[in-house]
Amino acid sequence: MHIRRIHFHTLDSTNTWAKQHLNSLDKNALTLVTASEQTHGRGRYGRVWFSKSGQNIHVSFVFFSKMSPQKLLNLPQILTISAIQTLDCVKLEIKWPNDLMINGKKMGGILCETASIEGFLGVILGIGLNINLSETELNKIDKPATSLFFETGEKYDLEKIVEALTEIFNKNLKVFLEKGFVPFYAAFTKHLCHKQNDKIKFSGQNRVWEGTFQKINEDGSLVMKLEDGTLQTFFSGEFLEPDKRRGGEKRR
Ligand code: BTN
Repeated sequence: MHIRRIHFHTLDSTNTWAKQHLNSLDKNALTLVTASEQTHGRGRYGRVWFSKSGQNIHVSFVFFSKMSPQKLLNLPQILTISAIQTLDCVKLEIKWPNDLMINGKKMGGILCETASIEGFLGVILGIGLNINLSETELNKIDKPATSLFFETGEKYDLEKIVEALTEIFNKNLKVFLEKGFVPFYAAFTKHLCHKQNDKIKFSGQNRVWEGTFQKINEDGSLVMKLEDGTLQTFFSGEFLEPDKRRGGEKRR
């Protein structure tokens, strides 16, 4: 797809802006909405996404498709793999379904939103990456978080990363729209932070489940074994972990 870019110094949220302006965006392009700073960055499950001006990457990739929403379920996972291929300077892992982790701490996340428009499905894939955040700034985040700078001691050129990520994601998107998730399955599972039989607590389908991680299916869904031995498959949800800072259990 050809690329279009719309950049702002400050926005409430690149996803929110993209949603509000979906009508006016090029239906045949992959549009990139970027902002140096977000004042109301949004995460999954209505959470706040922390932003510090000029330190992080906030991008929403927008495109339009006539495919069914069901066929597009893996898109956040394709963007996750694209980010890993872009940031090959560190060992990134995936916490299913699409959190980017370094040493057990979150450095990136994806918020995918869709809206029907003029017979198309408008897809907004927002990615936030902690790039140059210092330890002081990371400590303002109410969950274990990290940045490339914190992990490597080096400062990174945000623009170069955005350009590389866009190119890689655009290529991967083309393959995904033609062939589905299968070509990405090996790369996705290789980077998972979960190992078979790891004990897990999982929030999905409006309740909490306990058991062990089993595998990721070829369609990207998660299989866990419950304590009574039955297998349960999930297409969405999230892992629950004890919050190491506060001693309680919380969503991440
Ligand atoms: C998550 O909870 O892990 C998802 C975080 C997604 C953050 C990105 S930053 C760019 C885009 N705009 C937003 O308001 N959210 C997404």
